[in-house]
Amino acid sequence: MKITGTTLRQHRQTLGLSQAKLAEIADIPQHMLSAFELEKADLPMHVLNAVSNALANSEKVTAVVKRAKRYRDHKYAEVQKLPERVAKATRTNENAVYTQALKNIYSAHSSAQEKPLSALSLFSGCGGFSLGFSAAGFLVKGFLELEDDLRKIYKLNFPNSVEIGSDITGITQESLASAAKTLGGIDVIIGGPPCQGFSLSGKRDVSDPRNELFKHYLRFVDVFRPKFAVLENVRLLTSMKNREGGFVKDDICNEFTKHGYRIEYFEVNAKDYGVPQHRERVLFVAVRDDVCVIPSLPNFTHGDGGDMFSSLSPLRTFADACSDLPYIESGEKSNLPLHEAVKHPMHVIDWLWDVPQGFSAHDNKDPSKRPPSGYNTTYKRQVWNEPASTVQTTFGMISGCRNVHPIATRSLTIREAARLQSFPDEYLFSGSLGSVRTGIGNAVPPLLAYNIALHLKKFL
Ligand SMILES: C[S@@+](CC[C@H](N)C(=O)[O-])C[C@H]1O[C@@H](n2cnc3c(N)ncnc32)[C@H](O)[C@@H]1O
Repeated sequence: MKITGTTLRQHRQTLGLSQAKLAEIADIPQHMLSAFELEKADLPMHVLNAVSNALANSEKVTAVVKRAKRYRDHKYAEVQKLPERVAKATRTNENAVYTQALKNIYSAHSSAQEKPLSALSLFSGCGGFSLGFSAAGFLVKGFLELEDDLRKIYKLNFPNSVEIGSDITGITQESLASAAKTLGGIDVIIGGPPCQGFSLSGKRDVSDPRNELFKHYLRFVDVFRPKFAVLENVRLLTSMKNREGGFVKDDICNEFTKHGYRIEYFEVNAKDYGVPQHRERVLFVAVRDDVCVIPSLPNFTHGDGGDMFSSLSPLRTFADACSDLPYIESGEKSNLPLHEAVKHPMHVIDWLWDVPQGFSAHDNKDPSKRPPSGYNTTYKRQVWNEPASTVQTTFGMISGCRNVHPIATRSLTIREAARLQSFPDEYLFSGSLGSVRTGIGNAVPPLLAYNIALHLKKFL
């Protein structure tokens, strides 16, 4: 029987096995298991085999299920704000430059000046991709997003953008035609169907629901016939294969070609465009066949600076994004909106308290100060003077991958994650904190989107 995320979760729960414990006995990272169970990603065959073998080992499963929790009661206590730590969080010169750049993006977006070009946003999330395009002079005429809370955030920031619908699969040809009539011409369609929206079956099985999202994206392309389409996705997509052994990225390119577009894909890292974060993504740029432009992306603006003749600015760092924010420890609030720290249990603070920047609690010499399971990318501190690690939707969880502040002993606040993702402080967020974290973690960094939009604008 084929193992799906849902069947695995059900089987694991029947055995009374937590996700962390299954990850431990299969010796795989828990985040892979979590993504698979949420049906957000597939597992490579060797990992799937490791999971099957672990589940088949009933002796080990029973032993792990029976094992008492090391920390049954979570005790919380106030954490000392040490002056020497506060002093380490020094403000960088670039911080003022960066925060001003974000302010400029926001004012260009909200300016009353007429925007000469137009865009349509699909899979809009909380609006990161759209914000960059809007700031570069594109009127985002319409949008579409599945999640209620994210749609609300989007509407708060793009009140004049027409909400085309929620679930793209429920948009009928009639409502698509009517949206085209309402919106008129569109220069660029932006958006990235989530990963599982790409068929891995290779057989073009129309009943495979994973085919749906990309197929629906192309329905919009067929109706609006924009000059450009830009798709963003995780870089992992470039190595994903369909069951016939072909690459999913090639399937995407072939489909666009069939629909009358020239297309190229580019692997990018957001840090090369001034975003203070390592964020590896793939961008597909499609150009309508009758438009005489070669699909391309803008040149990098930032780089390592190893070459003295380089015109690139130095890579931006965690400190460049966040060093003006008040220093807070676990459980503390500041008077800045969304700059509020999650309160962590004392034993976790204890594991992490003396962990140096760039290291994990798993690296502690004293075994009693190491988390009971997991990889050393979890419970890991970021580095103040380096670009931040990829912001994910789980950035509020101290147990997640590289979510610990470089100096304070806590996970990242929403304001910090928003800054690292290049959202201006003026951008409005609403709804549950969970939805806000999801929106921010999934977004295309507005500054990256802005650079792409300025580049395409040259050809329009
Ligand atoms: C990677 S996020 C997009 C982030 C967005 N580009 C931004 O910059 O903020 C993908 C979005 O697609 C939405 N989505 C997933 N399935 C969908 C569907 N069937 N119809 C419409 N939206 C969908 C998800 O809710 C999620 O917000």
